[in-house]
Amino acid sequence: MARNATAFVCQQCGAAHPKWNGRCEECGGWNTLVEEAARSGPSGPAVVGRGRALTLHTLDGPLTSVARRASGIAEFDRVTGGGLVPGSALLVGGDPGIGKSTLLLQAAAALSQSAPALYVSGEEAIDQLRLRADRLGIRDAPVQLAAATAVRDIAATLDRPGAAAVVVVDSVQTLHVDSLDSAPGTVAQVRAASQALIRLAKERGFVLLLVGHVTKEGMIAGPKVLEHMVDTVLYFEGERSHQFRILRAVKNRFGPSDEIGVFEMTDVGLREVVNPSALFLAERERDVAGASVFAGIEGSRPVLVEIQALIAPTSLATPRRAIVGWDPSRLAMILAVLEARGGLGFAGVDVFLNVAGGLRITEPAADLAVAAALASAAIGRPLSAETVVFGEVGLAGEIRAVARAEARLKEAAKLGFTQAVVPARRNAAGAAGAARGIKQNAISHLSELLTMVRGGLADARPAGRIRRG
Ligand code: TYD
Ligand code: MG
Repeated sequence: MARNATAFVCQQCGAAHPKWNGRCEECGGWNTLVEEAARSGPSGPAVVGRGRALTLHTLDGPLTSVARRASGIAEFDRVTGGGLVPGSALLVGGDPGIGKSTLLLQAAAALSQSAPALYVSGEEAIDQLRLRADRLGIRDAPVQLAAATAVRDIAATLDRPGAAAVVVVDSVQTLHVDSLDSAPGTVAQVRAASQALIRLAKERGFVLLLVGHVTKEGMIAGPKVLEHMVDTVLYFEGERSHQFRILRAVKNRFGPSDEIGVFEMTDVGLREVVNPSALFLAERERDVAGASVFAGIEGSRPVLVEIQALIAPTSLATPRRAIVGWDPSRLAMILAVLEARGGLGFAGVDVFLNVAGGLRITEPAADLAVAAALASAAIGRPLSAETVVFGEVGLAGEIRAVARAEARLKEAAKLGFTQAVVPARRNAAGAAGAARGIKQNAISHLSELLTMVRGGLADARPAGRIRRG
């Protein structure tokens, strides 16, 4: 009988292959296969005929309301959907050095005021954690610390009634299950360790916060292989050179999944940013061609952000399209529509597009703001600095309605903007009264935007000043 004791598991997507290969056939990753002990798959032992019948339930049974544990850090609580649910498991992913340990130590300190909190670090020694806590000004918070990597020991610590209500494990890549041969950080280890801790969290009712490093190289198992095992997946993003950090919920069984929290990394830890729009617009240069302000919605709240475009003659056979913070295929589409429906030419030029402040935008409502920035750069006329733009652009050059127009306009008015370029068509919900103090230029085709950029919009410069903060 052939024994297949090992398999080659892709550290990026978790696919198992019988043979080593330079490239994973599932996800296309290069050099991501690592030999691991094979898990018993679908061909494992037969289970039919054993076990006992399940008790079945109806949908209209009694509801038990969950009492959430709020940390009091408003931006953190918003992203988790109003606080942490007992017995749930969260994964906090992000690039190394982005601030995950800082965030979770601060959150643990805040949560420890109302419930026993435990912080298990496999990366830092107790002294280092104390040093960090000192820097963060949270030394007197009653957080319990442990430096450990053995899952058996961690489980023994947690498997007691009332051991902890909130448990941070930093990071899953350092955990070690001694019944497996593979090294810490491999898919098998990360999976087995997380499974054991998640099961314990459900049994004992504590909140489990797992930290996972995202790695570009596939050699350490990324948080991707854990996403389906946990209740909530949060990603901590940002440019390390910028001080802004964005905590984004990408999956949440207990709350909205598109919510963001905005933080600023300071020398005394992460600070909440109460007014993200003011932050994203703070370093704005006025009267520069190629910039527009997009009135976006992130999760439940409006956020204004500057979109910058630069157009330069190219020296390459294939002109460059470089983009930060937005979808490259969407940019290609907007460029094509501007060429085909607006008569602008981008053939012999490099195009650079940047969402200022390190935010990543996914809304189609940004189309029109991107088009405005590109048109302004191509035509060489600045847009008025008091104008916000939002709307979806269709392939025919038509401007489509977007959700929550009122909320966008209100936020713009709050920050001192006086004009808006908006879709003429409105969603039913957005058709209510206009936001105070904002002149709306409603357009239904891209050509109207170009006319505005060439003339009207550029010259309309009312005496209002932009308030910051
Ligand atoms: P850290 O939380 O260790 O990141 P991660 O756990 O995601 O790897 O944060 C590391 C960076 O944050 C490090 O470069 C230093 C910086 N930092 C500050 O700027 N201020 C602070 O108060 C702290 C604790 C860290
Ligand atoms: Mg860390």
